[in-house]
Amino acid sequence: MNDRFLRACRREPVDATPVWFMRQAGRYMAEYRALRERHTLLDICRNPELAVEVTLQPVNRLEVDAAILFSDLLLPLEPMGIPFTFAKGEGPVIHEPLRSAADVDRVRQLESRETLDHVLATIRILRRELEGRVPLIGFAGAPFTLASYAIEGGASRSYARTKALMYGEPTAWHLLCDKFAAAIGDYLVAQVEAGAQAVQLFDSWIGALGPGDYREFALPHTRRILEAAAATAVPVLHFGTGTATLLEVMAEAGGDVIGVDWRIPLDEAWERIGHDRAIQGNLDPTLLLGPIDRLLGGASDVLRRAANRPGHIFNLGHGILPETPVDKVEMLAHMAHRL
Ligand code: CP3
Repeated sequence: MNDRFLRACRREPVDATPVWFMRQAGRYMAEYRALRERHTLLDICRNPELAVEVTLQPVNRLEVDAAILFSDLLLPLEPMGIPFTFAKGEGPVIHEPLRSAADVDRVRQLESRETLDHVLATIRILRRELEGRVPLIGFAGAPFTLASYAIEGGASRSYARTKALMYGEPTAWHLLCDKFAAAIGDYLVAQVEAGAQAVQLFDSWIGALGPGDYREFALPHTRRILEAAAATAVPVLHFGTGTATLLEVMAEAGGDVIGVDWRIPLDEAWERIGHDRAIQGNLDPTLLLGPIDRLLGGASDVLRRAANRPGHIFNLGHGILPETPVDKVEMLAHMAHRL
């Protein structure tokens, strides 16, 4: 098996820097857009056959060293009593956003894994179909990021309602995050039992907090999930964006690998995290929209800063944008392996 990715997670030497991309499956690929003409995003997520097909699209097309389960961060919300849909071109819309302590009380504990059985079925089929070509990454969302969708009702710039509840109703905030932590910890363990060979916890919007608030409002819950995942013995990746001032506290919360974005140089980030952890990142995804010399310059800068230290996984600082040309992504994977 190509185990570069798993070796790098464990900070073992590798023959070339492992590469994969967040959102490596998605709208930038014609194969994906063709499938989306006939099925909604949630249909694909809930139908193992379709989710398997989409997961494999980038693995068949790009030189990537890992597959990531095709699913969505928000899937656990529905069985917890927080239904949502994806509005055309607008992203997720939560039907009844949580706005009060009483709303939080009504959130259900995720009682049974059966409600997310289709995800586990997808993982089992993927392991068979991948036949050890590359390892399979499972994933879930961290409490702050999940809470931000549940409370804002969708995407947000300021996270004003989220923070209003966090500061104004701290007991309700911690209760909500407790419910997410219990559910997500168990969900990640179930993914590993189904065959996921690594798991990534996405705390995409955690950069809205400073380190003091992170410690008080996010760390205890995120740590609980990362500890549950760590007990499975597969590598655990812990990712966020806008985290330049949070890297120390994020590392304290846990993760064998810390994922960083482009707002901080990779070597500086690694210093802050500590060289006893692996690091993932951190090319700006918009470089894939510009000229090739700038793209390659950016990629070589990331690799130069990693300085051949064991434990670097090459990735973007966030997901591939839908308008990205596939051939640039293809070229980037190829170059990152050879630079
Ligand atoms: O290839 C992969 O990386 C796996 C697939 C994946 C999806 N969502 C499919 C998807 C992953 C890892 C996610 C995680 C996810 N979902 C996150 C965390 C990652 C991140 O980007 O920070 C978040 C915040 C979500 C919630 C979500 N899902 C939003 C905000 C949106 C709308 C934004 C957009 O890009 O339109 C989605 C939709 C979504 N999830 C798409 C895909 C491929 C868009 C494609 C479509 O509508 O078909």
